[in-house]
Amino acid sequence: MRKNVIMGNWKMHFTVEETDKFLNKLIPKVKDAKTEVVVCVPFTSLALASNTLSGSNIKLGAQNVHFEEQGAFTGEISPNMLKSVGVSHVLIGHSERRIYFGESDETVNKKIHTCLKHGFVPVLCVGESLKEKEDGDMENILTNQIKNAFLNISSEDASKVVIAYEPIWAIGTGKTATSIDADNTISFIRKVVSSIYNKEISENMIMLYGGSVKPNTIKEQMSMENIDGALVGGASIVVEDFERIVNF
Ligand code: 13P
Repeated sequence: MRKNVIMGNWKMHFTVEETDKFLNKLIPKVKDAKTEVVVCVPFTSLALASNTLSGSNIKLGAQNVHFEEQGAFTGEISPNMLKSVGVSHVLIGHSERRIYFGESDETVNKKIHTCLKHGFVPVLCVGESLKEKEDGDMENILTNQIKNAFLNISSEDASKVVIAYEPIWAIGTGKTATSIDADNTISFIRKVVSSIYNKEISENMIMLYGGSVKPNTIKEQMSMENIDGALVGGASIVVEDFERIVNF
């Protein structure tokens, strides 16, 4: 049985003060959640969030990590830095990082190796652009993203990865994929994973949908066979919305 996971990706929102205020409001509201709850906060808020969340059922995620252990990499954050503040999950290859910050399939693969080596749950983000979808390239794009991400990852390690399917055209646009389309695409992603590893790994892998997930879309999304949870952007920084999504 796959578990359900609801993750918030705060992106570039909230100062340390705002983080504390937000989490203190959120903690009591989701304490009886039936799903795993993770918040991916900005790097500057991780240390504070780790303290504020201690003793709660909310896990701490980071939005990126560097693949090297340490060194002359100005502006980067190492796996040990994340470990020292109690991070459990790391978003890898979010489309915003691929589009604006030069994240490539190659760096995504390196970062997944690094996460697995350090015991983090890598949350691999994949998804096609509107043009790729309209050109009928979606399956090719997803297949390449996934095959490259899992390069030289053992099956034992692969089973620890979470995949988030986030069609780029649905992110921050209010245009969520229909539940049926999202389910079909994630079913396709399971086939790709199965072709790399096997059916068991693919059937047991936790797969999330992301892209304009809102309190009024979550219930139907969660009722779909292949969707195990959500990666939530905009609605994850509004306490009432995120609470309703978690407690769908
Ligand atoms: P929105 O929920 O704001 O569309 O963002 C989705 C996303 O990118 C989560 O990682």
